[in-house]
Amino acid sequence: MAKKKTKFMCQSCGYESAKWMGKCPGCGDWNTMVEEVEVAAPKGTRGAFQHSATVAQKATPINSIETQQEPRVETEMGELNRVLGGGIVPGSLVLIGGDPGIGKSTLLLQVSAMLANSGSRVLYISGEESIRQTKLRAERLDASSSELFIYAETNLELIHHTIEEVSPDFVIVDSIQTVHHPEVTSAPGSVTQVRESTAELMRIAKTKNIAIFLVGHVTKEGQIAGPRILEHMVDTVLYFEGERHHTYRILRSVKNRFGSTNEIAIFEMLQSGLKEVLNPSELFLQERSSGAAGSTVVASMEGTRPILVEIQALVTPSSFNYPKRMATGIDQNRVSLLMAVLEKRVGMLLQAQDAYIKVAGGVKLDEPAIDLAVLASIVSSFRDTAPNVYDCIVGEVGLTGEIRRVSRIEQRVQEAAKLGFKRAIVPASNLGGWDYPEGIRVVGVENVNDALREIFPQ
Ligand SMILES: Nc1ncnc2c1ncn2[C@@H]1O[C@H](COP(=O)(O)OP(=O)(O)OP(=O)(O)O)[C@@H](O)[C@H]1O
Ligand SMILES: [Mg+2]
Repeated sequence: MAKKKTKFMCQSCGYESAKWMGKCPGCGDWNTMVEEVEVAAPKGTRGAFQHSATVAQKATPINSIETQQEPRVETEMGELNRVLGGGIVPGSLVLIGGDPGIGKSTLLLQVSAMLANSGSRVLYISGEESIRQTKLRAERLDASSSELFIYAETNLELIHHTIEEVSPDFVIVDSIQTVHHPEVTSAPGSVTQVRESTAELMRIAKTKNIAIFLVGHVTKEGQIAGPRILEHMVDTVLYFEGERHHTYRILRSVKNRFGSTNEIAIFEMLQSGLKEVLNPSELFLQERSSGAAGSTVVASMEGTRPILVEIQALVTPSSFNYPKRMATGIDQNRVSLLMAVLEKRVGMLLQAQDAYIKVAGGVKLDEPAIDLAVLASIVSSFRDTAPNVYDCIVGEVGLTGEIRRVSRIEQRVQEAAKLGFKRAIVPASNLGGWDYPEGIRVVGVENVNDALREIFPQ
């Protein structure tokens, strides 16, 4: 009978300890230590599963290394290519995380079929569903090809054999939490299992030049379950998010060794699968109630692309000693800061007001260029005055009430003009040096008072 050993391991950094600790000595995080029960493998089995990764490498002077453009395989989904930085890099390991039922398997099965239909060989390994269940989904998505192989297995050794046998160009592992490495005896989904299985899959990806997609479950807090180091190990981390009650989904890149991060792609979930949304601004502004107090539109950059989004504010007299400040889609501290600026620089009495801020459509915005629009929404709701529906507002607000310069102003204003906005309120320091698009008036503002006079002329 194998001997049972208990140890504790930090989910963030992998620090191991014989006893449980509230604070991890390795990374200083709290409540990250989890119990790992490890059953020592019977003697003689360790090492039976040989890696084929032992290719001898020599240290090379950097100036004698030949470089070439990273080859990319473009899928038919232009949006996915963009999030990946221009296509799939052979030999890369991509992790896709997302809430249960959000559509991870759907997305990857569709991509698999597209790749298979354009001449590549794809192996889809399903550890969660039987091959029949996968086939049923494939029928609904119209995903079929003789080059798309489905394999329901969770044992990594068998998976390795099948990869050798099928010799695919792309492998999908759905999901990494179900895979178990036969040499590691802790339970599937545990920190050690996930880490060891990922390391093995990485070796396979790098030595055979196969691009591998891993599906990862997320925890209640919204992080990919398993060790944080999982995110360090892979080349690219994508999150698939969306609101359960909306049909659209957002694929966001949070780490990419082969491209920029903060790129997003938007998809709509239909009966026939995921469809790319090519003009997201239109989608986000679709349900906007024109002429409502507390609503403004900002042109925010998401990676390399501008997106117009509505920012809503509701400011009401508070019935508590401490007024509430709630924000969805933007940082709550940012809202408190902007309200403090309004009090001090504009003389607005907001201490006794509750404030609720929401980025419509469930997108998350984290760039300072949205400050002025958030501030204008707060003022609009507080004064119960609607801004002009044809205004688009961009600008960072400083602590002295100055409106600071933002990046990529030309692209933002172009997007606003494209969607029919008639006036762009921008930082004065951003004026000049670029071509103003036709059909839109560009107005520069220097400080908060200046901006409010421009936005609420009455
Ligand atoms: N018959 C159907 N018609 C339309 N949409 C469907 C149908 N079946 C499933 N869906 C959509 O697909 C979603 C499930 O997608 P999928 O199984 O790809 O998610 P997942 O992220 O892989 O989930 P899990 O974490 O459970 O593996 C459902 O939430 C639903 O929106
Ligand atoms: Mg799934």
